[in-house]
Amino acid sequence: MKRRAFLTWVGVGGLASSLPIALAACSPDTSSETASQFPETQAELAAPTEAAAPPPREDGFTAVGTVAELDEQGSLTNKTLDVAVIRDPANATAVIAVNSRCTHQGCSVNWDEDATLFYCPCHGSRFNSDGSVANGPAVDPLGEIEAKIEADSVLVKLS
Ligand code: FES
Repeated sequence: MKRRAFLTWVGVGGLASSLPIALAACSPDTSSETASQFPETQAELAAPTEAAAPPPREDGFTAVGTVAELDEQGSLTNKTLDVAVIRDPANATAVIAVNSRCTHQGCSVNWDEDATLFYCPCHGSRFNSDGSVANGPAVDPLGEIEAKIEADSVLVKLS
């Protein structure tokens, strides 16, 4: 075989043998493993960890859940809005809403229905149902937020 014919033969053979690899590299990968590793859209990149609350109504109130959810869970907490809503322990037909950011260093407080206290998991502050401090280290009360029940919705008015 002459040198020129040999090089042509090797070139065609090399191209033919690498074609499947090249095609595989260029084809879209639809495996779920790849799809789950990399977000495909900006929406996926910016997806919040908690569903955003709907925009406020014309009267300034925002729905943070339903009465059924409140009664089932014992409280409604929206960490995006920094609000926690409970049934008023002194008046079961009314609701109380507070700013859910602990006034000590800003952790989110949770409602303990049995103790009827908001508690902070970070350093142990406790707040009464009206937001006043029951135990420190926090010294300032949780901010009060206007709240009400309307039909089957629990509404808060954020300033
Ligand atoms: Fe709540 Fe420290 S942040 S007690």
